[in-house]
Amino acid sequence: MAGVTLQNVTKHYGTSAVVNDVSLQIAPGEFAVFLGPSGCGKTTTLRMIAGFVAPTSGSIRLGARDVTAAPPHRRNTGLVFQNYALFPHMTVAANVAFGLEMRNCPKPEIVERVKAALLRVRLEAFAERMPRQLSGGQQQRVALARALVIEPDVLLLDEPLSNLDTKLRSEMREEIRALQQSLKLTTILVTHDQEEALAVGDRLVVMNQGRIEQIGTPANIFEMPRSRFVADFTGVANLLAGRGASGGRFVLAGGETVRQADAVAGTEAVLALRPERAELLAAASGRHANELPARVVTATYLGTVSDYRVELASGTRLACRQTNEPGGGAARFAPGEAVWIGWSETAARLVAPE
Ligand SMILES: Nc1ncnc2c1ncn2[C@@H]1O[C@H](COP(=O)(O)OP(=O)(O)OP(=O)(O)O)[C@@H](O)[C@H]1O
Ligand SMILES: [Mg+2]
Repeated sequence: MAGVTLQNVTKHYGTSAVVNDVSLQIAPGEFAVFLGPSGCGKTTTLRMIAGFVAPTSGSIRLGARDVTAAPPHRRNTGLVFQNYALFPHMTVAANVAFGLEMRNCPKPEIVERVKAALLRVRLEAFAERMPRQLSGGQQQRVALARALVIEPDVLLLDEPLSNLDTKLRSEMREEIRALQQSLKLTTILVTHDQEEALAVGDRLVVMNQGRIEQIGTPANIFEMPRSRFVADFTGVANLLAGRGASGGRFVLAGGETVRQADAVAGTEAVLALRPERAELLAAASGRHANELPARVVTATYLGTVSDYRVELASGTRLACRQTNEPGGGAARFAPGEAVWIGWSETAARLVAPE
C-alpha cells in the first residue's frame, strides 16, 4: 500500500496543456475519484500515474519513491482501462494470469493467484470462457481481477462501470468499494458521473480543462461547491447571477431581492440553488425566507419525483424538483399554473462568478 503524490504535473500535446500544473496527494488506502467532463484530462492524469504517458514537467511519487521516469511494470499499479481491453483470443484465466506471467511468477503460484482473484470478483465459474462469451459487466469484472491479481500498490480505474446498465452499475460500484475497503487499497477511479463519485469516493478531485477546480469529501463538494463550474457539474441547475446587498440580502439580475445568509454587500456572485432544495407551493405560505410568485412552464413526471421549470415575473427561470405523493399518479402542478417557489436563506449558496 502506497500513497500517490503529484507535484506540478503538466502534460502538453503540441501547444495545448491537457493537464495543467496538477498537484495532489492521495493517502495510503484512500479512495480518490477524478470527476470532470469529457476531455478535461482525467485519463491522461491516470495514465501518467500508471506510466503509460510521460509528463512534460512535474513529478510523480508512489509512496516515497519518485517514479516519474519509471516504466509501467516498475510501478506496481493495476490499471483498468476505459474500454477494459481484454485479450479476445485468451480465456478469462489467461487474461488474468497475463500480468503475473510478465513478472515471471512461478506457474503453481499463478494458478493459485488467478483462482483467488476470480473468486474475489465472483467469476470463479467462468475461468475457461472467452471474453466474447461474457456480458459487459462480467468483462469489466475480469478486467478488475486482472488489475487486482498483481497485488498492486495502487489501483487505477478508468470509468470501469461505463458500459453497465443502471442496476449493475450501482451493484458493481458497491462491490468495488467493498473490495477496496477489505484490501485497504489506494485507489483512484475516474468518472464523469457525479452520483458514482459521491457513492464511492473518500475524496473527490473535480477537474476542468486540465486543472483541479476543487478537492474535498463528497459532502464537501456537494454542499460547498467553490466555483460556478463545480456547482454546475454536481447538479446545481439554478445558477443565478446577482449582487449582495446589506442585511443578508441578495439582488438577482432579474431585480428580485432574496434573503441569502452568506451574501456580502456590494459583491457580485452567483446564487447556486439545487432544484430539490426549493419547494413549489399552491399559495404563499410564509414558511420560507424566500417565496416568489411564478408560473409553471414545464412539468415532467419521473415517478418518485417531478421536475418543474417555473418562470418568475422578471422572466428568470428556475428548476425545481418535488417528491411526488404516493398514489398521486401525475405531477402536482401543470404548465401554465400560477404557483409560488420557496426556499430558505441557507438552502442556496453563493459561488464566485466565472
Ligand atoms: N495522444 C494524444 N494526442 C493528442 N491529444 C490527446 C492525446 N491524448 C489525449 N489528448 C487530448 O487531451 C485531452 C484530455 O484527454 P483525456 O483522455 O485525458 O480526457 P478525459 O477527461 O479522460 O475524457 P473522457 O471523459 O472523454 O474519457 C483531450 O482534449 C484529448 O483530445
Ligand atoms: Mg477518459
